[in-house]
Amino acid sequence: MVDIQVTSDEKITEVKADAIIVSLLDWDVSEDKPITGAVGAVDAALGGAIKSLLLGGDLKGKLNKTAVLYPRGALPAQRVIVVGIGKAQDLTPDKVRQAAGTAAKKARELECKSIATIAIGSGGGGLDPKAAAQATVEGIVLALYEFRVHKSTPAENGAIESVTLVEFDVARLPAVKEGARVGRILADATNFTRDLVNQPSNHMTPHVLAHAAQDMAAKNGLKCEVFNLEQIAELGMGAMMGVTQGSDEPPQFIILEHKPDAGQPVIFVGKGITFDSGGISLKPGEGMGAMKGDMAGAAAVIGAMQAVAQLDLPLHVVALAPACENLPSGHAYKPGDVLKAMNGKTIEVISTDAEGRLILADALCYADRYKPSVVIDLATLTGACVVALGENVAAGIFSNDDDLAAQVREAGNRAGEKLWPLPLYEEYKDKIKSEVADMKNSGGRSGGVGTSAIFLKEFTSYPWAHLDIAPMEADDKGGPYQPKGATGFGVRTLVEFLRARVSS
Ligand code: BES
Ligand code: MN
Ligand code: ZN
Repeated sequence: MVDIQVTSDEKITEVKADAIIVSLLDWDVSEDKPITGAVGAVDAALGGAIKSLLLGGDLKGKLNKTAVLYPRGALPAQRVIVVGIGKAQDLTPDKVRQAAGTAAKKARELECKSIATIAIGSGGGGLDPKAAAQATVEGIVLALYEFRVHKSTPAENGAIESVTLVEFDVARLPAVKEGARVGRILADATNFTRDLVNQPSNHMTPHVLAHAAQDMAAKNGLKCEVFNLEQIAELGMGAMMGVTQGSDEPPQFIILEHKPDAGQPVIFVGKGITFDSGGISLKPGEGMGAMKGDMAGAAAVIGAMQAVAQLDLPLHVVALAPACENLPSGHAYKPGDVLKAMNGKTIEVISTDAEGRLILADALCYADRYKPSVVIDLATLTGACVVALGENVAAGIFSNDDDLAAQVREAGNRAGEKLWPLPLYEEYKDKIKSEVADMKNSGGRSGGVGTSAIFLKEFTSYPWAHLDIAPMEADDKGGPYQPKGATGFGVRTLVEFLRARVSS
């Protein structure tokens, strides 16, 4: 794991590292303005080499554009990586994450082992030093993530071992240290979630997921309880029992708890289908492998709890993660079956592929016993949400409480995770009316994302928000701080949501 240090003992021009990373604001050659801040100091030490690149038009300070310079003894560092961060007035923590991630990957490509940088964006960029340091560290740690568990060969370019964040102003050092600490915890939690989601379903069964949660809880001082099949049945979780019955892998109902004595809890609920074949309503073979990621909601709430514990937030927080497989077999549940959820409501199964809402129904009922102040669920719930919002653009958010929705969306904005509001119109309820039971588990193709959410609403009795993260769970192309594969979406939004509750 990469080591991160924050210091004001040296200036960025004095650090000995395989690379120093400095950021550059959008620079217009026609204005011929001086280069200021850390990049200005480095430019001066290099005798104006960066300025020459700017004047030549090789570098303009555009977001995520990089240039590498070799000081040849003019600085103790081996190389200088200049990364653009765009215009100061448009700068956000997410752009800092992107630029920091882009530069860190560039350094790794150049086989650097040690890098040094500053709290990017806290100079001329005008960001608060704490937020800038947090975003810089998040960007670096998130970008350097790799899932190599099943590779027998080591990574070609090796790994970056140490990152030094330099803050020349001693007065700002505590803020930069605090930002770096928080950024580290959030990025580690996200990467932990990515590890869980990237694991194929033969390596990430409900049992393995429960074990990972228990292990994390033991290391971080959280309470963890896991219900087995008998306990799930005993609790009357008939909807979850229906989903799991086709699989030979036993289901697990995972509960993590932080500070039980700190008042009414915030509860996170995550969908933990470790593989979704669709069941008897079998999915087409093409792309089915992606359904190993159908436990991304569960993984996100488990990852968020790691950060909650490490930040030692003074709040009562609970995570509930129902985990099972959805498979066809001789004992699988079938279309037409009627299931009874924990609150006594009956459900006619239209499609065994609408399984996520069934396990969530029981988990949302179970949440009731904590008398929660707020419940937020995360689920890779519908393909319809992917169609509506587009892959890797935004997740959908539904809520029965406008203030809560606004708070979660703001937390998402701080985390660089977009959440777009979708409606809980009563009309969707008509679409899931059943002739034989209290409701159906599917309203068919049209309005598929709305009907899934209105179904969940039937099992809630508290302020609640539902995040359909199906569009965001994995990224096939990757981004500046997002390697291909699992994203860990939601972890940082949930923790930022709690952090705002602490400070308000
Ligand atoms: N896990 C899927 C949803 C999904 C689709 C997640 C694509 C990620 C990417 C969910 O269980 C599902 O199968 N939903 C069905 C619901 C339908 C049968 C009402 C869907 O969206 O097609
Ligand atoms: Mn499904
Ligand atoms: Zn599913």
